[in-house]
Amino acid sequence: MLDAEVRELMQPFVLSDYQVQEVYSRFCLEVARGLKRSTHPQANVKCFPTYVQDLPTGDEMGKYLALDLGGTNFRVLLVSLKGHHDATVDSQIYAVPKDLMVGSGVQLFDHIAGCLAKFVEKHDMKTAYLPLGFTFSFPCVQLGLKEGLLVRWTKGFDCAGVEGEDVGRMLHEAIQRRGDADIAVVAILNDTTGTLMSCAHRNADCRVGVIVGTGCNACYVEDVENVDLLRADFKKSKRSVIVNAEWGAFGEGGQLDFVRTEYDREVDEKSINRAEQLFEKMTAGMYLGNLVRLVLLRALERKLIFKQSSRRPEFAGVLQRNEEVFETRYISEIEDDSFPEFASTRKIVRNLFGLEKASVEDCQTLRYICECVAKRAATLVAIGVSGLVNRTSNRRVIVGMDGSVYRYHPKFDAYMRQTLQKLVKADKEWDIMLSEDGSGRGAALVAAVASKSK
Ligand code: GLC
Repeated sequence: MLDAEVRELMQPFVLSDYQVQEVYSRFCLEVARGLKRSTHPQANVKCFPTYVQDLPTGDEMGKYLALDLGGTNFRVLLVSLKGHHDATVDSQIYAVPKDLMVGSGVQLFDHIAGCLAKFVEKHDMKTAYLPLGFTFSFPCVQLGLKEGLLVRWTKGFDCAGVEGEDVGRMLHEAIQRRGDADIAVVAILNDTTGTLMSCAHRNADCRVGVIVGTGCNACYVEDVENVDLLRADFKKSKRSVIVNAEWGAFGEGGQLDFVRTEYDREVDEKSINRAEQLFEKMTAGMYLGNLVRLVLLRALERKLIFKQSSRRPEFAGVLQRNEEVFETRYISEIEDDSFPEFASTRKIVRNLFGLEKASVEDCQTLRYICECVAKRAATLVAIGVSGLVNRTSNRRVIVGMDGSVYRYHPKFDAYMRQTLQKLVKADKEWDIMLSEDGSGRGAALVAAVASKSK
């Protein structure tokens, strides 16, 4: 049985029906404000047009390179589209060293171009002409399909000299500086767009793409008449366009203050992008582990966990020394654990604190903390998804999802569905589908669809 005091500790993470409705209304308002030219500058859900206007048909063919930058790793991919909704992907993961994440932009792009050259050489394609789709998962103002100005860095990146610049041009210049491969950057896209495209490749009803990974964001298909910022010449021949919501920034106008907890405020205050990406800081993998860490510290202080142990101050020390010590993946492992063995939970506790025998009660308390933090994240994500699903003009809407939190957390999907059931309009038929390699296949599809429409 859980202590009443533990429940009380976690109460601020439990969203009431009223709070859910209120966040939903505020979110919908911000989306509408982001789309409108007159309110866009103040809006915090920016709703950037992506210039991706055609969804795949499934018959796309050809070989494409894709680059995927936006999380802890970056990847180079060779995607062969084979028609009949089929594709094969060959990829290589490269680390982004911490110092490159906060170094100069030119260094970052030179590193990327270097990895790209190695990859092409390994695949014996140095002399082949290769079109490249660049999945660059940060907020960008797109001026066209292959021009994207970085608005600001998120997710721990902070490279000098890139904000306000065209990242497509920076990549192109880095490739030119090396001069050892014939690669053309033909499209820049967000990872959410890649997710939507890769799901639409399989299921023609996909209209929303969502990432809950290191960061958290979504895109959706909007009618061109509602997208004031889309250039007029792009409204003539096409009815819709994918809009990158950049919902991670939701709350920067104070809209979430009535549900943010003291722990959310502390995560924000210690981050490198203070007062920014507040919705993301409540929902994304980069922050969820840290939230649990802070709650655990409070639980230790109030003697709500590890009550039997005299080593509580020492455990607190472990948690205080390192913000990243409680990894987000532990949340998934703990919620996946079986009662009353708690084998994974006990292993995590042993590795963190050197505590050999956590009691069943301790394990239950830890699990409840993780559950509340993850469930709130899933509820918030589902609030955003409902807002977007309800905006689309289709009756049947598939939501394409990706990201490590969604993929590996055993209940994230179920938590999301509970909220979607409450908020999505009754006349809509919806479902969620897991994306297959949106950042790779999706990037190739954007590049392919672009060359088709030319
Ligand atoms: C951050 C980025 C956004 C991206 C998301 C998921 O929120 O700003 O562009 O889609 O992370 O990677």
